[in-house]
Amino acid sequence: MYCVRNVTEDLYWVGANDHRLALFENCFPIPRGVSYNAYCLLDEKTALFDTVDWSACRQLLENLEYVLDGRPLDYLVINHLEPDHAACIEEVLLRYPKVKVISNEKAFMLMRQFGFHVDKHELIEVKEGDTFSFGKHTVTFVFAQMVHWPEAMVTFDLTNGVLFSADAFGSFGALDGKLFADEVNFDRDWLDDARRYLTNIVGKYGPHIQLLLGKAGGILDLIKIVCPLHGPVWRKDLMYFIGKYDTWSKYEPENKGVMIVYASMYGNTENAAQSLASKLCERGVTDVVVHDVSSTHVSYMISDAFKYSHIVLASVTYNLGIYPAMHNLLMDMKALNLQNRTFALIENGSWAVKSGDLMQKFIDEELKNMTVLNERLTLASSLNADKVTELNMLADAIAESMGK
Ligand code: FEO
Repeated sequence: MYCVRNVTEDLYWVGANDHRLALFENCFPIPRGVSYNAYCLLDEKTALFDTVDWSACRQLLENLEYVLDGRPLDYLVINHLEPDHAACIEEVLLRYPKVKVISNEKAFMLMRQFGFHVDKHELIEVKEGDTFSFGKHTVTFVFAQMVHWPEAMVTFDLTNGVLFSADAFGSFGALDGKLFADEVNFDRDWLDDARRYLTNIVGKYGPHIQLLLGKAGGILDLIKIVCPLHGPVWRKDLMYFIGKYDTWSKYEPENKGVMIVYASMYGNTENAAQSLASKLCERGVTDVVVHDVSSTHVSYMISDAFKYSHIVLASVTYNLGIYPAMHNLLMDMKALNLQNRTFALIENGSWAVKSGDLMQKFIDEELKNMTVLNERLTLASSLNADKVTELNMLADAIAESMGK
C-alpha cells in the first residue's frame, strides 16, 4: 500500500521509514529509526528526486506508482549517490525504461562503480549553475562537494523555492507520518538526533558545509521549503535550523555547558566524575551531562562534544596508556575535526598514573584550537577526602572559565 504526503500541491514525498535498521551505515545506532526521503514532482513532465535504500525499494515503487497514476516517469534526478538513497536507481530504471537520468559527472562515475547499469538510458550530465525545466518548474543545480560525498549536489526549484538539499539539513529519526518539522517539537524531540547525524557523518567537512551555506546565503530569501534526504521537511523557521548547521560546521559550541566522560573499571573514576558534576551544579553550572565511555555509543558523545563548550575527560590508566574506549573517543574527535573547546582532565592509576599526560598530549598535538585547564585532578585508585581541595579547585576553574 502506498504511503505518501504532499509537500506542495504538485510535489509529493514518496520515501519510506525504516525502524528495522539497527545501525545506520552499519555504525550508528538509530533507536528512533530513519527515513529515506524521495520526492516526486508532477509537472508537464514528471520527475523523481533521488531514490531510497534497497530495503525500502518496494515502498518507493508503490508510492511512485500511486502518485504517477498512470503517467510515465520522465526524469530521475540523483543528488547523492550513497546507496541509502541511490540503491534503487536500477529498479526505477527497470520499471520506467524511458526515464532520463539527471546528475553530474562524478555521480555517473560512482553509479558505474557501484554497478548500476545506467548507460543504456539517456543520461543528462549537469554542471554547477545549469538550469532545467520540467514545464512550470525550472530547477538549478548547486554542487555540494563533500556534503557528504564528492558528487553531492542540491537542486533548487526556482519556481517555488523548494530546495532538495540532499544530506544537508537531514536527521536521524523516522518520520512516522509527521513530514514537516513544524508538526513535531523539533527542539525537544529531534535536535539531538539531528546533531548526532550531522556531526558524526559530515562533522569532518565543516568547511564544505560553510561553502554550501555561503552559496545558499545568496538565495536565502528565495528558499521556502527545504527537502532533505533524511528527516523532516522544513517549511517554517528555516533560519533556526540553518543557524544550527552554521554553528556546528564552524565548530562553535552550541551551549555553554559541560560534558563529562569517564572511563572507569571499578567505579572509582566514575565516582570522581559524579562528584565533579555535583560540584559544578553547586556553582551554578547545571547544563552538565555525564557519559560512561564504555557503555555510551561514541556517536552520542561526539554529538555532545559538538554541543558543549567544555569537556571533562576522566580516565583510568590502562596498559600504561589511555583507557581504550577513551582513546577511541579522542580519535573520533580528531577524525571529525572537533575544535574550539575547553578541556579539563581527571586521571587515575594505582601505581603509574599516565592517562592525564597522555590525554593532554593528544589534545595538544592532535586536536585543533583546544584549551586544557591547568588544574588537573590526579587520583591514586580512588577519590579520597584528601582530594576534596583539588576537586573543588577543578570545579572552580571550570566554572570560572565559563564566566560563573
Ligand atoms: Fe544519507 Fe550520505 O547519505
